[in-house]
Amino acid sequence: MLEAQPNDPWSRGTVMTTTDTSQVDEHTLEQQTGAFVERVFGSLNGALDLYVIDIGVRLGLYEALSAGPATSYELAERTGCAERYVREWLEQQTVSGVIEVADATADAADRKYALPLAHQEPLCDHDSPAFVGALAGCATELGPAVTWLAKAFRDGEGVPLERYGESFVRLQGAMTRPMYTHALTEVWLPALADIDARLRADPPARIADLACGVGLAAVAMARHYPAVTADGFDNDETSIAIARHNAAEAGVADRVRFQVRNLSDNGTDDGVYDVVTILEAVHDMARPVDALRAAKGMLADGGRLIVADEHAGDSFAEPGPIDGFLYAVSILACLPQSMAEQPSAAIGAVIRPSTMSALAAEAGFSATTNLPIEDDFWRFYELVR
Ligand SMILES: C[S@@+](CC[C@H](N)C(=O)[O-])C[C@H]1O[C@@H](n2cnc3c(N)ncnc32)[C@H](O)[C@@H]1O
Repeated sequence: MLEAQPNDPWSRGTVMTTTDTSQVDEHTLEQQTGAFVERVFGSLNGALDLYVIDIGVRLGLYEALSAGPATSYELAERTGCAERYVREWLEQQTVSGVIEVADATADAADRKYALPLAHQEPLCDHDSPAFVGALAGCATELGPAVTWLAKAFRDGEGVPLERYGESFVRLQGAMTRPMYTHALTEVWLPALADIDARLRADPPARIADLACGVGLAAVAMARHYPAVTADGFDNDETSIAIARHNAAEAGVADRVRFQVRNLSDNGTDDGVYDVVTILEAVHDMARPVDALRAAKGMLADGGRLIVADEHAGDSFAEPGPIDGFLYAVSILACLPQSMAEQPSAAIGAVIRPSTMSALAAEAGFSATTNLPIEDDFWRFYELVR
Protein backbone atom coordinates (compact mmCIF):
# COMPACT_ATOMS: atom_id res chain seq x y z
CA MET A 1 0.00 0.00 0.00
CA LEU A 2 1.51 3.35 -1.06
CA GLU A 3 1.74 5.99 1.66
CA ALA A 4 0.88 9.63 1.11
CA GLN A 5 4.00 11.61 0.18
CA PRO A 6 3.97 15.02 1.87
CA ASN A 7 6.61 16.36 -0.56
CA ASP A 8 5.13 14.89 -3.74
CA PRO A 9 5.30 17.89 -6.14
CA TRP A 10 2.70 16.36 -8.48
CA SER A 11 -0.20 16.06 -6.06
CA ARG A 12 -0.47 19.49 -4.54
CA GLY A 13 -3.59 20.65 -6.36
CA THR A 14 -4.13 24.41 -6.59
CA VAL A 15 -1.46 26.17 -4.60
CA MET A 16 -1.36 29.63 -6.22
CA THR A 17 -1.98 32.53 -3.91
CA THR A 18 -2.32 35.38 -6.43
CA THR A 19 -5.79 34.88 -7.78
CA ASP A 20 -7.05 38.47 -8.01
CA THR A 21 -7.68 38.98 -11.74
CA SER A 22 -10.03 41.95 -11.36
CA GLN A 23 -7.40 44.41 -12.65
CA VAL A 24 -6.49 42.51 -15.85
CA ASP A 25 -8.20 42.01 -19.16
CA GLU A 26 -9.25 38.35 -19.12
CA HIS A 27 -8.76 37.82 -22.84
CA THR A 28 -5.22 39.19 -22.71
CA LEU A 29 -4.45 37.09 -19.66
CA GLU A 30 -5.75 34.00 -21.41
CA GLN A 31 -3.59 34.69 -24.46
CA GLN A 32 -0.51 35.29 -22.34
CA THR A 33 -1.14 32.13 -20.34
CA GLY A 34 -1.60 30.13 -23.55
CA ALA A 35 1.62 31.53 -25.03
CA PHE A 36 3.53 30.65 -21.88
CA VAL A 37 2.17 27.10 -21.80
CA GLU A 38 3.13 26.73 -25.47
CA ARG A 39 6.62 28.03 -24.77
CA VAL A 40 7.15 25.46 -22.02
CA PHE A 41 5.77 22.67 -24.19
CA GLY A 42 8.28 23.72 -26.86
CA SER A 43 11.02 23.47 -24.25
CA LEU A 44 9.88 19.98 -23.28
CA ASN A 45 9.92 18.95 -26.91
CA GLY A 46 13.43 20.36 -27.21
CA ALA A 47 14.62 18.55 -24.08
CA LEU A 48 13.20 15.21 -25.20
CA ASP A 49 14.69 15.77 -28.66
CA LEU A 50 18.11 16.09 -27.02
CA TYR A 51 17.68 12.88 -25.01
CA VAL A 52 16.84 10.93 -28.15
CA ILE A 53 19.77 12.47 -30.03
CA ASP A 54 21.99 11.54 -27.08
CA ILE A 55 20.93 7.90 -27.42
CA GLY A 56 22.07 8.00 -31.04
CA VAL A 57 25.44 9.53 -30.10
CA ARG A 58 26.15 7.19 -27.17
CA LEU A 59 25.22 4.02 -29.03
CA GLY A 60 27.00 4.98 -32.26
CA LEU A 61 23.74 4.89 -34.24
CA TYR A 62 24.61 8.01 -36.24
CA GLU A 63 28.13 6.79 -37.00
CA ALA A 64 26.77 3.47 -38.21
CA LEU A 65 24.16 5.23 -40.33
CA SER A 66 26.77 7.54 -41.84
CA ALA A 67 28.37 4.41 -43.32
CA GLY A 68 25.35 4.12 -45.64
CA PRO A 69 21.53 3.93 -45.67
CA ALA A 70 20.05 1.14 -43.57
CA THR A 71 16.79 -0.48 -42.55
CA SER A 72 16.08 -0.84 -38.84
CA TYR A 73 17.28 -4.45 -39.04
CA GLU A 74 20.51 -3.48 -40.76
CA LEU A 75 21.23 -0.67 -38.29
CA ALA A 76 20.48 -2.97 -35.35
CA GLU A 77 22.92 -5.48 -36.85
CA ARG A 78 25.60 -2.82 -37.37
CA THR A 79 25.38 -1.51 -33.81
CA GLY A 80 24.51 -4.62 -31.81
CA CYS A 81 21.24 -3.05 -30.62
CA ALA A 82 17.73 -4.49 -30.40
CA GLU A 83 15.77 -3.92 -33.63
CA ARG A 84 12.52 -2.85 -31.98
CA TYR A 85 14.23 0.02 -30.14
CA VAL A 86 16.24 0.98 -33.20
CA ARG A 87 13.06 1.11 -35.30
CA GLU A 88 11.31 3.42 -32.85
CA TRP A 89 14.41 5.64 -32.73
CA LEU A 90 14.65 5.79 -36.54
CA GLU A 91 10.98 6.72 -36.85
CA GLN A 92 11.25 9.46 -34.18
CA GLN A 93 14.41 10.84 -35.77
CA THR A 94 12.72 10.92 -39.16
CA VAL A 95 9.57 12.72 -38.08
CA SER A 96 11.67 15.24 -36.14
CA GLY A 97 13.88 15.96 -39.15
CA VAL A 98 17.23 14.57 -38.03
CA ILE A 99 17.42 11.68 -40.51
CA GLU A 100 15.70 10.91 -43.80
CA VAL A 101 13.73 7.98 -45.11
CA ALA A 102 13.78 6.97 -48.78
CA ASP A 103 10.13 5.86 -48.95
CA ALA A 104 7.94 6.60 -45.93
CA THR A 105 5.13 4.49 -47.36
CA ALA A 106 7.20 1.28 -47.47
CA ASP A 107 6.59 -1.40 -44.84
CA ALA A 108 8.32 -0.53 -41.56
CA ALA A 109 10.83 -3.37 -41.97
CA ASP A 110 11.76 -2.30 -45.51
CA ARG A 111 12.21 1.44 -44.98
CA LYS A 112 15.74 2.65 -45.74
CA TYR A 113 16.96 5.47 -43.53
CA ALA A 114 19.90 7.81 -44.17
CA LEU A 115 21.80 10.47 -42.28
CA PRO A 116 21.86 13.66 -44.40
CA LEU A 117 25.39 14.78 -45.27
CA ALA A 118 24.88 18.12 -43.50
CA HIS A 119 24.09 16.32 -40.23
CA GLN A 120 27.05 13.96 -40.30
CA GLU A 121 29.77 16.31 -39.04
CA PRO A 122 27.57 17.75 -36.21
CA LEU A 123 26.62 14.26 -35.03
CA CYS A 124 29.71 12.16 -35.76
CA ASP A 125 32.84 14.35 -35.60
CA HIS A 126 33.67 14.92 -31.92
CA ASP A 127 36.53 17.32 -32.79
CA SER A 128 34.46 19.56 -35.03
CA PRO A 129 33.34 23.03 -33.88
CA ALA A 130 29.97 21.97 -35.33
CA PHE A 131 29.70 18.92 -33.05
CA VAL A 132 26.34 18.95 -31.25
CA GLY A 133 26.54 15.52 -29.63
CA ALA A 134 27.96 16.99 -26.42
CA LEU A 135 25.07 19.48 -26.24
CA ALA A 136 22.64 16.57 -26.21
CA GLY A 137 24.78 14.83 -23.59
CA CYS A 138 24.69 17.95 -21.47
CA ALA A 139 20.91 17.64 -21.07
CA THR A 140 21.21 14.00 -20.02
CA GLU A 141 24.04 14.56 -17.56
CA LEU A 142 22.40 17.53 -15.87
CA GLY A 143 18.97 15.93 -15.56
CA PRO A 144 19.64 13.92 -12.37
CA ALA A 145 20.81 17.09 -10.59
CA VAL A 146 17.20 18.29 -10.42
CA THR A 147 16.42 15.81 -7.65
CA TRP A 148 19.66 16.42 -5.73
CA LEU A 149 19.05 20.15 -5.87
CA ALA A 150 15.76 20.00 -3.98
CA LYS A 151 17.79 19.15 -0.87
CA ALA A 152 20.58 21.63 -1.69
CA PHE A 153 18.10 24.48 -2.17
CA ARG A 154 16.64 23.78 1.28
CA ASP A 155 19.78 23.17 3.31
CA GLY A 156 22.10 25.50 1.35
CA GLU A 157 24.79 22.88 0.98
CA GLY A 158 26.54 22.07 -2.26
CA VAL A 159 26.58 19.01 -4.49
CA PRO A 160 30.14 17.74 -5.06
CA LEU A 161 31.44 17.05 -8.55
CA GLU A 162 31.87 13.37 -7.60
CA ARG A 163 28.09 13.08 -7.25
CA TYR A 164 27.72 14.01 -10.94
CA GLY A 165 30.06 11.13 -11.77
CA GLU A 166 32.70 10.21 -14.31
CA SER A 167 30.30 10.51 -17.21
CA PHE A 168 29.70 14.20 -16.38
CA VAL A 169 33.46 14.82 -16.16
CA ARG A 170 33.94 13.22 -19.58
CA LEU A 171 31.05 15.29 -20.93
CA GLN A 172 32.79 18.50 -19.79
CA GLY A 173 35.76 17.41 -21.85
CA ALA A 174 33.57 16.68 -24.85
CA MET A 175 31.96 20.14 -24.60
CA THR A 176 35.31 21.96 -24.82
CA ARG A 177 37.18 19.44 -26.99
CA PRO A 178 36.44 21.19 -30.33
CA MET A 179 37.51 24.55 -28.87
CA TYR A 180 40.83 23.18 -27.65
CA THR A 181 41.42 21.07 -30.75
CA HIS A 182 40.90 24.05 -33.04
CA ALA A 183 40.29 27.52 -31.64
CA LEU A 184 42.86 27.50 -28.83
CA THR A 185 45.88 27.01 -31.06
CA GLU A 186 44.48 28.18 -34.40
CA VAL A 187 42.73 31.39 -33.29
CA TRP A 188 43.09 32.37 -29.62
CA LEU A 189 46.83 32.00 -28.98
CA PRO A 190 47.83 33.34 -32.43
CA ALA A 191 45.78 36.45 -31.57
CA LEU A 192 48.16 37.03 -28.66
CA ALA A 193 51.27 37.48 -30.79
CA ASP A 194 53.84 37.88 -28.00
CA ILE A 195 52.57 34.82 -26.11
CA ASP A 196 52.44 32.79 -29.32
CA ALA A 197 56.03 33.85 -30.04
CA ARG A 198 57.18 32.87 -26.54
CA LEU A 199 55.61 29.42 -26.95
CA ARG A 200 57.68 28.92 -30.12
CA ALA A 201 60.93 30.32 -28.70
CA ASP A 202 63.93 28.94 -26.84
CA PRO A 203 64.49 28.08 -24.12
CA PRO A 204 61.30 26.00 -24.37
CA ALA A 205 58.38 27.59 -22.54
CA ARG A 206 56.79 26.03 -19.48
CA ILE A 207 52.98 26.08 -19.39
CA ALA A 208 50.71 25.45 -16.41
CA ASP A 209 47.01 24.82 -17.00
CA LEU A 210 45.16 25.27 -13.70
CA ALA A 211 41.88 23.47 -13.04
CA CYS A 212 42.68 21.57 -16.21
CA GLY A 213 39.78 19.09 -16.12
CA VAL A 214 40.51 16.21 -18.48
CA GLY A 215 43.58 18.02 -19.79
CA LEU A 216 42.66 18.64 -23.40
CA ALA A 217 43.94 22.24 -23.45
CA ALA A 218 47.40 21.25 -22.18
CA VAL A 219 47.50 18.38 -24.66
CA ALA A 220 46.47 20.66 -27.55
CA MET A 221 49.12 23.26 -26.65
CA ALA A 222 51.82 20.59 -26.39
CA ARG A 223 50.86 19.18 -29.77
CA HIS A 224 50.86 22.60 -31.43
CA TYR A 225 54.07 23.94 -29.84
CA PRO A 226 56.47 20.97 -30.08
CA ALA A 227 59.11 22.25 -27.63
CA VAL A 228 56.93 23.29 -24.69
CA THR A 229 56.33 21.32 -21.54
CA ALA A 230 53.01 21.60 -19.73
CA ASP A 231 51.76 20.79 -16.25
CA GLY A 232 48.05 20.44 -15.59
CA PHE A 233 46.52 20.63 -12.12
CA ASP A 234 43.03 19.84 -10.93
CA ASN A 235 41.57 18.84 -7.57
CA ASP A 236 39.40 16.13 -9.13
CA GLU A 237 41.08 12.72 -9.24
CA THR A 238 38.85 11.34 -11.99
CA SER A 239 39.65 14.30 -14.23
CA ILE A 240 43.38 13.85 -13.70
CA ALA A 241 43.21 10.12 -14.45
CA ILE A 242 41.41 10.85 -17.73
CA ALA A 243 43.84 13.70 -18.50
CA ARG A 244 46.83 11.35 -18.17
CA HIS A 245 45.12 8.92 -20.53
CA ASN A 246 44.45 11.76 -23.00
CA ALA A 247 48.11 12.85 -22.95
CA ALA A 248 49.29 9.29 -23.55
CA GLU A 249 46.81 8.78 -26.38
CA ALA A 250 47.98 12.02 -28.04
CA GLY A 251 51.62 10.93 -27.74
CA VAL A 252 52.67 13.88 -25.54
CA ALA A 253 52.87 12.20 -22.13
CA ASP A 254 56.63 12.85 -22.08
CA ARG A 255 56.00 16.63 -22.10
CA VAL A 256 52.63 16.92 -20.38
CA ARG A 257 52.15 15.91 -16.75
CA PHE A 258 49.04 16.06 -14.63
CA GLN A 259 48.69 16.25 -10.86
CA VAL A 260 45.81 16.27 -8.42
CA ARG A 261 45.97 19.54 -6.49
CA ASN A 262 43.57 21.93 -4.85
CA LEU A 263 44.95 25.22 -6.14
CA SER A 264 43.22 27.18 -3.41
CA ASP A 265 45.26 25.32 -0.81
CA ASN A 266 48.62 25.86 -2.43
CA GLY A 267 50.26 26.61 -5.75
CA THR A 268 52.84 24.22 -7.06
CA ASP A 269 56.33 23.47 -5.93
CA ASP A 270 57.45 22.70 -9.47
CA GLY A 271 59.07 26.03 -10.27
CA VAL A 272 57.62 28.88 -12.27
CA TYR A 273 55.89 29.09 -15.62
CA ASP A 274 56.05 31.32 -18.70
CA VAL A 275 52.35 30.91 -19.48
CA VAL A 276 49.65 30.03 -16.96
CA THR A 277 46.09 29.40 -18.11
CA ILE A 278 42.83 29.01 -16.19
CA LEU A 279 40.15 28.04 -18.67
CA GLU A 280 36.49 28.09 -17.72
CA ALA A 281 37.19 27.34 -14.08
CA VAL A 282 37.47 30.45 -11.89
CA HIS A 283 33.69 30.52 -11.47
CA ASP A 284 33.75 26.86 -10.33
CA MET A 285 36.12 27.48 -7.44
CA ALA A 286 34.97 27.77 -3.85
CA ARG A 287 37.98 29.97 -3.08
CA PRO A 288 38.93 31.62 -6.36
CA VAL A 289 40.96 34.41 -4.75
CA ASP A 290 43.29 31.89 -3.10
CA ALA A 291 43.70 30.05 -6.41
CA LEU A 292 44.44 33.30 -8.29
CA ARG A 293 46.98 34.22 -5.63
CA ALA A 294 48.61 30.81 -6.15
CA ALA A 295 48.60 31.37 -9.92
CA LYS A 296 50.33 34.72 -9.40
CA GLY A 297 53.08 32.97 -7.44
CA MET A 298 53.61 30.50 -10.29
CA LEU A 299 54.50 33.17 -12.88
CA ALA A 300 58.11 33.42 -14.04
CA ASP A 301 59.60 36.87 -14.66
CA GLY A 302 57.68 38.09 -17.68
CA GLY A 303 55.24 35.18 -17.25
CA ARG A 304 51.64 35.69 -18.43
CA LEU A 305 48.37 34.60 -16.82
CA ILE A 306 45.49 34.06 -19.26
CA VAL A 307 42.03 33.47 -17.85
CA ALA A 308 39.04 32.50 -19.98
CA ASP A 309 35.58 32.32 -18.51
CA GLU A 310 31.94 32.56 -19.48
CA HIS A 311 30.72 35.29 -21.83
CA ALA A 312 28.17 36.70 -19.40
CA GLY A 313 26.63 40.11 -20.02
CA ASP A 314 28.03 43.18 -18.28
CA SER A 315 25.31 43.32 -15.63
CA PHE A 316 22.00 41.74 -14.61
CA ALA A 317 20.28 44.74 -16.17
CA GLU A 318 22.28 44.27 -19.38
CA PRO A 319 22.32 40.48 -19.80
CA GLY A 320 24.27 38.98 -22.67
CA PRO A 321 22.75 36.65 -25.28
CA ILE A 322 23.76 33.50 -23.40
CA ASP A 323 22.94 34.61 -19.85
CA GLY A 324 19.79 32.43 -19.72
CA PHE A 325 21.85 29.38 -20.67
CA LEU A 326 24.58 30.31 -18.17
CA TYR A 327 22.10 30.71 -15.33
CA ALA A 328 20.63 27.29 -16.10
CA VAL A 329 24.04 25.60 -16.12
CA SER A 330 24.91 27.52 -12.98
CA ILE A 331 21.85 26.27 -11.09
CA LEU A 332 22.26 22.69 -12.28
CA ALA A 333 26.02 22.27 -11.89
CA CYS A 334 28.49 25.13 -11.37
CA LEU A 335 26.98 26.80 -8.31
CA PRO A 336 26.18 23.62 -6.32
CA GLN A 337 29.59 22.15 -7.17
CA SER A 338 31.41 25.26 -5.97
CA MET A 339 29.31 25.26 -2.80
CA ALA A 340 30.32 21.69 -1.93
CA GLU A 341 33.33 23.23 -0.19
CA GLN A 342 32.45 25.70 2.55
CA PRO A 343 32.91 28.57 2.98
CA SER A 344 32.44 29.26 -0.73
CA ALA A 345 32.54 32.44 -2.80
CA ALA A 346 29.60 30.82 -4.66
CA ILE A 347 30.27 32.76 -7.87
CA GLY A 348 28.15 30.71 -10.28
CA ALA A 349 28.52 30.47 -14.04
CA VAL A 350 27.29 34.01 -14.70
CA ILE A 351 30.70 35.52 -13.98
CA ARG A 352 30.72 39.11 -15.20
CA PRO A 353 33.84 41.14 -16.06
CA SER A 354 33.36 43.23 -12.92
CA THR A 355 33.45 40.05 -10.80
CA MET A 356 36.63 38.82 -12.48
CA SER A 357 38.34 42.19 -11.94
CA ALA A 358 37.31 42.25 -8.29
CA LEU A 359 38.63 38.71 -7.68
CA ALA A 360 41.91 39.57 -9.42
CA ALA A 361 42.34 42.78 -7.42
CA GLU A 362 41.72 40.90 -4.18
CA ALA A 363 44.35 38.36 -5.20
CA GLY A 364 46.86 41.19 -5.64
CA PHE A 365 46.94 41.62 -9.42
CA SER A 366 47.53 45.20 -10.56
CA ALA A 367 45.15 45.01 -13.54
CA THR A 368 42.69 42.83 -15.42
CA THR A 369 42.90 43.38 -19.17
CA ASN A 370 40.27 42.26 -21.64
CA LEU A 371 42.10 40.38 -24.39
CA PRO A 372 41.24 40.99 -28.06
CA ILE A 373 39.72 37.57 -28.71
CA GLU A 374 36.14 37.43 -29.97
CA ASP A 375 34.15 34.40 -28.90
CA ASP A 376 30.42 33.87 -28.44
CA PHE A 377 30.83 31.77 -25.32
CA TRP A 378 33.95 32.95 -23.55
CA ARG A 379 35.62 36.17 -22.49
CA PHE A 380 39.41 36.30 -22.27
CA TYR A 381 41.31 38.22 -19.63
CA GLU A 382 44.96 38.76 -18.80
CA LEU A 383 45.60 39.20 -15.10
CA VAL A 384 48.61 41.46 -14.82
CA ARG A 385 50.96 40.99 -11.91
C1 LIG B 1 34.28 23.52 -15.95
S1 LIG B 1 35.65 22.57 -15.49
C2 LIG B 1 36.84 23.14 -16.66
C3 LIG B 1 37.94 22.17 -16.88
C4 LIG B 1 38.94 22.55 -17.97
N1 LIG B 1 39.65 23.76 -17.65
C5 LIG B 1 38.24 22.66 -19.29
O1 LIG B 1 38.09 23.78 -19.78
O2 LIG B 1 37.83 21.64 -19.86
C6 LIG B 1 36.20 23.29 -13.97
C7 LIG B 1 37.33 22.51 -13.32
O3 LIG B 1 37.79 23.24 -12.19
C8 LIG B 1 38.26 22.29 -11.25
N2 LIG B 1 38.44 22.96 -9.95
C9 LIG B 1 37.51 23.64 -9.25
N3 LIG B 1 38.06 24.12 -8.11
C10 LIG B 1 39.37 23.77 -8.12
C11 LIG B 1 40.46 23.99 -7.21
N4 LIG B 1 40.30 24.67 -6.09
N5 LIG B 1 41.67 23.48 -7.53
C12 LIG B 1 41.84 22.76 -8.67
N6 LIG B 1 40.86 22.54 -9.57
C13 LIG B 1 39.63 23.03 -9.29
C14 LIG B 1 37.17 21.22 -11.30
O4 LIG B 1 37.59 20.00 -10.74
C15 LIG B 1 36.91 21.14 -12.80
O5 LIG B 1 37.72 20.16 -13.42
